[in-house]
Amino acid sequence: MVVTLEPCDHDGTTPPCTDAIISSGIDRVVVGAVDPDPRVSGRGIARLRAAGVEVEVGVLANEVERADPAYFHHRRTGRARVTLKVASTLDGQVAALDGTSRWITSPESREDVHRLRAEHDAVLVGIGTVLADDPTLDVRTAGYDWPQPRPIVVARHRSLPSHSRIAGRDPIVLTDPDGVDPIAVLERLPHDGILGVMVEGGPTIARAFLDADAVDEIVVYLAGRIAGGVGLPAIAGDFSTLADNRPVTIDEVTRIGPDVRISARFTTQEDA
Ligand SMILES: NC(=O)c1ccc[n+]([C@@H]2O[C@H](COP(=O)([O-])OP(=O)(O)OC[C@H]3O[C@@H](n4cnc5c(N)ncnc54)[C@H](OP(=O)(O)O)[C@@H]3O)[C@@H](O)[C@H]2O)c1
Repeated sequence: MVVTLEPCDHDGTTPPCTDAIISSGIDRVVVGAVDPDPRVSGRGIARLRAAGVEVEVGVLANEVERADPAYFHHRRTGRARVTLKVASTLDGQVAALDGTSRWITSPESREDVHRLRAEHDAVLVGIGTVLADDPTLDVRTAGYDWPQPRPIVVARHRSLPSHSRIAGRDPIVLTDPDGVDPIAVLERLPHDGILGVMVEGGPTIARAFLDADAVDEIVVYLAGRIAGGVGLPAIAGDFSTLADNRPVTIDEVTRIGPDVRISARFTTQEDA
């Protein structure tokens, strides 16, 4: 039997799904993942069971969370979820010394970056990237007509030029001469409806987010190219001693045209 239910919400404007399920006579329900939202958090499941409905929980739970990782992350932590994207040569350079970086990766990888942007509510860069590249930070995949990610620019001193491409895209501009705190940003953005942020800036902003332990996923596009020298490395700053490295768990490796795409996250005790 197929029963169409109105989407549930948590503010009382639509009735709970549980009422519709119980009154429809459904006798078995399969739940992927329990909604961590404290306003819900398993209460619907308890009501279904109390009404005699058989409920199985945790079926394809990982897949369900992967379909909307920012939602689950925000409900658990109160913060927006961050994907740090890096596009570098095989030897780890994201730009040449003269600042040129277009294009390090292949058209196929760039197309994939647009798909990745489409999975996020916002794309964040430092002002250095705006001034060097004047990017649009939008999704330009053919046929895409969903909402565009909101551009966010972070700066200490430099201003967003009014003629820059993103100036016309209702950007959020975050400026603080003492440095913008990434964690404070991630706690604020959900109030603007932004739960998933792709950090797509240069090495300086990447370092700021890594130092603040504010990166949940890293997506690296490794181009089938060797720079053969040091221009701009993916992450700014020093790598002073070997012990400073942090292990990551690589979740996925995909070949994209002549390039490789790697999805990784910092290894936690649960991975050990
Ligand atoms: N291959 C790639 O994936 C990729 C992606 C993006 C950019 N790039 C390249 O990277 C180069 C630009 O590098 P970049 O390091 O200058 O770019 P960036 O990290 O995007 O911007 C750096 C600027 O952002 C501001 N900023 C960074 N962290 C901040 C914080 N915590 N609080 C406040 N402001 C902060 C500072 O602005 P103030 O100057 O105002 O202090 C800083 O100078 C360009 O050559 C570009 O082509 C490559």
